[in-house]
Amino acid sequence: MPKGVSFHKLADHPNELNWAENGIAVAELKGKKICIGRFKDQFFAFAFKCPHAGGILADGYIDALGNVVCPLHRYKYSLENGRNTSGEGYYLKHWPVELREEGVFVGMDEGGFWNIFS
Ligand code: FES
Repeated sequence: MPKGVSFHKLADHPNELNWAENGIAVAELKGKKICIGRFKDQFFAFAFKCPHAGGILADGYIDALGNVVCPLHRYKYSLENGRNTSGEGYYLKHWPVELREEGVFVGMDEGGFWNIFS
């Protein structure tokens, strides 16, 4: 884990997140929106908006390979590493999720987090 990453609690339990039928929940951390995706019983945190043209990723879906698919132009991003697996050369900001006894935590680089919202 790189220096400067700290974990922030999102919920006491994954069931408390606001899951939509597509397996994506929108969560707020310090007033900013992020997405949590569930795939094969694992949880992934990623940016609320698509890096291509700002599509709302929470309105997309997670495909059978563990990519989130943007609803606007259908670009795909790996939940695991943010890679733009449909090949357009973008990169999806994402963060580690830890399930602990006390709840669901998301790790963020304190220096870089806010930049993605600008
Ligand atoms: S805005 Fe997401 S693919 Fe274009």
